[in-house]
Amino acid sequence: MIDYLEEPDMFHDIFGHTPLILNQGYADFMFEFGKLGKRFAHNPEAVLKLQRLYWFTIEFGLMQQGSQTKIYGAGIASSFGETNHVFNDDIEVLPFDIESVMNNAFVNSEIQWRYYHVDSLDSLHDLIGKAAKILNDEPKMVHVL
Ligand SMILES: [Fe+2]
Repeated sequence: MIDYLEEPDMFHDIFGHTPLILNQGYADFMFEFGKLGKRFAHNPEAVLKLQRLYWFTIEFGLMQQGSQTKIYGAGIASSFGETNHVFNDDIEVLPFDIESVMNNAFVNSEIQWRYYHVDSLDSLHDLIGKAAKILNDEPKMVHVL
């Protein structure tokens, strides 16, 4: 059974990540996310916040379209157990709230119990500007010599 696998995991990478790169909205998000990462790479606080954004989008993102919940997160799509788990009644699926996502820790070694949904893959792009604003507004706590 394909469940939560240890990395490096080629099934996760090929099955979970690669197909969605062909979607323009998803690809644009990944591209802009990479630029944000490069811009804030010197700031560990910012990197932590970006890690959380990545986790709840690219790895464990859901999409809500009407009454349908759809999976786009590679961490879910490549896990049989997590795919079934997201449709359980005892988990939380919240509208995407970037402040909450970027300011709350997650446990990467366990199946998730809270997920955030976006309306479409195209809407992911809007998160980049919001993330940049959050990171720019932070006091500069780390100074690189
Ligand atoms: Fe991944």
